[in-house]
Amino acid sequence: MSAASQAFDRWIRSSFPQMNEELEELYYVRDDRADVEGVGDAIKAALRDEGHAHVLALWREGNTGEGFDSAFEVLGNVGLYMAALRRHELTNPAREERSPFREASSLALHVGASIGMAPRFATAHLATRNRAVRGVRKSFTFLPDEFLFIDENARGILAMQRAADALFRILPLGVTNPVADVQFAAAADALREAIAINARLFDTLDVDRFFWSVRPYYKPYRVGRQEYRGANAGDFSGINELDLLTGLCRASDPHYAQLLVDKMLFMLPEDQARLRECMRHTSLMDEFLALADVHGGEAWFRSPLAAFVEICDLFAETARQHHAMLVERFIVGPAARMNERHMAGVTASGPPLDVLLRALQLLHDFRTAAPRKDVETRSIDLMRLRALC
Ligand code: HEM
Repeated sequence: MSAASQAFDRWIRSSFPQMNEELEELYYVRDDRADVEGVGDAIKAALRDEGHAHVLALWREGNTGEGFDSAFEVLGNVGLYMAALRRHELTNPAREERSPFREASSLALHVGASIGMAPRFATAHLATRNRAVRGVRKSFTFLPDEFLFIDENARGILAMQRAADALFRILPLGVTNPVADVQFAAAADALREAIAINARLFDTLDVDRFFWSVRPYYKPYRVGRQEYRGANAGDFSGINELDLLTGLCRASDPHYAQLLVDKMLFMLPEDQARLRECMRHTSLMDEFLALADVHGGEAWFRSPLAAFVEICDLFAETARQHHAMLVERFIVGPAARMNERHMAGVTASGPPLDVLLRALQLLHDFRTAAPRKDVETRSIDLMRLRALC
């Protein structure tokens, strides 16, 4: 990393979260916590100007060609800075046609394009690629609830990645190969871990702190002219690898295909490649279905099938938890109690909450193989396989 990148990184790990946290404490004691304009203006100005000095140094330096890791760190740091400017209402895409932060935009566009990612901070910056320095990882504030959220998210993502990796290695073996048993078992263990993590988040994360002091940093903002949606814990390929490998979601479905296309650039290039790879294979469910009519009664078929159905059940449980517990408790509940005039900024992806909830419901229904009249889920196929276990 160049001296300018290192100085920016040090600032992002020290003064930046300190100033954000000071602002959060000012907002949190207000009657209307969503009304942050005109509050803490001196701190906001310091945050903007100190960050700008670092951005300017990097922007002047240009692309130093120091490789992916260094570029990725710079993209994350300029992204965290721009997301904080958005959170503190120093910019708002609804009232501007282009970002007022021209150098930060140029830097983000340049670096993002050079590594093949959207020009904003991505989930990986705060999760699986959040490099700790002496135990301290990057964050917007030092609030315990923010660390709880980013740490459990990262653990959840790692668990899903382990499950996807285990299933992926079954493809060359074939579902009826007896040695696939260890891979099904590894995937089941990883999914149980993901379930435990979701339950822990539900039990321990403070609803108000999350909603008022953590979530606002995940709003959409403009980079240059274009508005980019916020990051969310779903921007990693593991979840979609699980969708496609199990066969519960299909890349041929128009809703699902759109989702894959939309999230591509929010993922690491290696995740993008893994996802493309999964789109080119027959799912495990389709492999079982192709054998079911003729071999449904045979032991070599039924034993791995039972392991596969268990995977589908565990994966469905993670989807139920996400929808009925996490989204409901930490987004829908507090949003319902919020002043109507602030509703526009609630979701990370930008659409109104009811539109977002419908999209999340559809994913939930795919992953739980729930029967639906309007879209084709795997409800009937999974019922048929379950009956053969
Ligand atoms: C407090 C905890 C969490 C809350 C409140 C939450 C809420 C949400 C919301 C509201 C979205 C839609 C994004 C948007 O606003 O536009 C979303 C997306 C997503 N989240 Fe979470 N989430 C939480 C934790 C997690 C965890 C731990 C995981 C798994 C590691 C996860 C996986 C996903 C995925 C995969 C998506 C993309 C849509 C999908 O494919 O289902 N989330 N989340």
